[in-house]
Amino acid sequence: MRVRISPVRKLRGVISVPGDKSISHRAALLGAIAEGTTEIEGFAPGRDPRTTLEVLERLGVEVEREGKVVRIHGLGLRGLKPPDGPLWAGNSGTLMKLISGILAGQNFTSVLEGDESLSRRPMRVVEPLRLMGAEVSALDDLYPPLKIRGHFPLNPIRYALPVPSATVKSAILLAGLYAEGRTSVEEPAPSRDHTERMLEAFGAEVERRWIRQGRSEDLGEELDRRLRRAEGGGPRVQVSVEGTGKLEASKVVVPGDISSAAFLLVAGAIVPKSHIRIKDVGLNPTRRAVVDVLRRMGAEVRTEEGRMICGEPIVDLVVRGSELKGTRIAGSVIPNLIDEIPVLAVAAACADGETVIRDAEELRAKETDRIRAVVENLRRMGVKVGELRDGMVIGGGGNLRGATVESFGDHRIAMAFAVAGLVAEGETVIEGAEWADISFPGFFRTLEDLSRR
Ligand code: S3P
Repeated sequence: MRVRISPVRKLRGVISVPGDKSISHRAALLGAIAEGTTEIEGFAPGRDPRTTLEVLERLGVEVEREGKVVRIHGLGLRGLKPPDGPLWAGNSGTLMKLISGILAGQNFTSVLEGDESLSRRPMRVVEPLRLMGAEVSALDDLYPPLKIRGHFPLNPIRYALPVPSATVKSAILLAGLYAEGRTSVEEPAPSRDHTERMLEAFGAEVERRWIRQGRSEDLGEELDRRLRRAEGGGPRVQVSVEGTGKLEASKVVVPGDISSAAFLLVAGAIVPKSHIRIKDVGLNPTRRAVVDVLRRMGAEVRTEEGRMICGEPIVDLVVRGSELKGTRIAGSVIPNLIDEIPVLAVAAACADGETVIRDAEELRAKETDRIRAVVENLRRMGVKVGELRDGMVIGGGGNLRGATVESFGDHRIAMAFAVAGLVAEGETVIEGAEWADISFPGFFRTLEDLSRR
């Protein structure tokens, strides 16, 4: 699908964004292996989380869908049924990695397949799940399809991730539920922690500690403060889970997805005279860095109506058109805004002065190589940009030219460049715009509505 975007004078309105994709995947997966019925309110409508529900049904889980409410009838830790063929993970790396951790503890064999994009992405769960005792095979020991022959009980391990990754961490923690004893994962910097929060809500025993020079200390309330000054190597983080217990079903209210809100935050900041309120967005400390960086760039972003729901902080985000300046985005803040970098790069192109993004090589292992894709599209729009192995240097100054750009089959690239089109001179054509449905069905309509008020 091709979408044409014309420049707009302002964006105004009060809107909601789809439910958080990360939290929706986790709620469905934990619900499936819990005892009892988990009710999920505000389940993300995108294609990826729907794929998770379909995979669970193939594993014998009863799923009820009623508008935005999804009910998962849990089968307990070991109650999943052997599927009658390969399981289709579609475009979702999160699903493929997280569910591997669960399948590693079942007493049957499963095969996980994905689309062309997912088949090119490294599944770094193979090594830790093998260490835990599951038989896992993958192309070149890394790429889908994954074949997992589960084992019970698994061995508890202590595993150090070379790069922060919430998906790999989560797969190990989920497999840890099937291990005899305590499984620990260490990360060089804290990645999103929804799995840890939700495991606790479902009754699992989880512990989080900072590791400093071999000593460890309680994470406590320090997380937020430390994440805010995260650039530069902070202490490592260790998360542990106790195995062979059971999970209790829970009620989950899914907040709006900050990663979807990010497109509207940047749009509101770069289109002069804009004023947008985005309601009920999750502002988990491990996800909020996009707000901090936009503020540092000079954007007026306010948080209002703050409250806690199901262990996750929720706010309304209010953004106004602002003059932006370039910045540096690097170091241990990267995992906390990894999905927002394409749209932050668009903000950078509109800012005064240069922006440098480093330490973000993981972007090359996403739905597409997002460094390549952003650099290519920005160049087509006339922006000066240099490609680095682990990031990019973006010359600011605005003056974007309308052009034909590609989504490269990646939802976040499609949406980031639709946002760029709002301030470019002339028309911007997004090829492959339908990919936005992966996480934000109705995205283009939302932009249109905001520009009409
Ligand atoms: C996610 C973690 C991130 C992120 C992805 C969702 C999650 O991936 O890019 O969109 O839900 O845990 P990695 O942990 O693989 O970097």
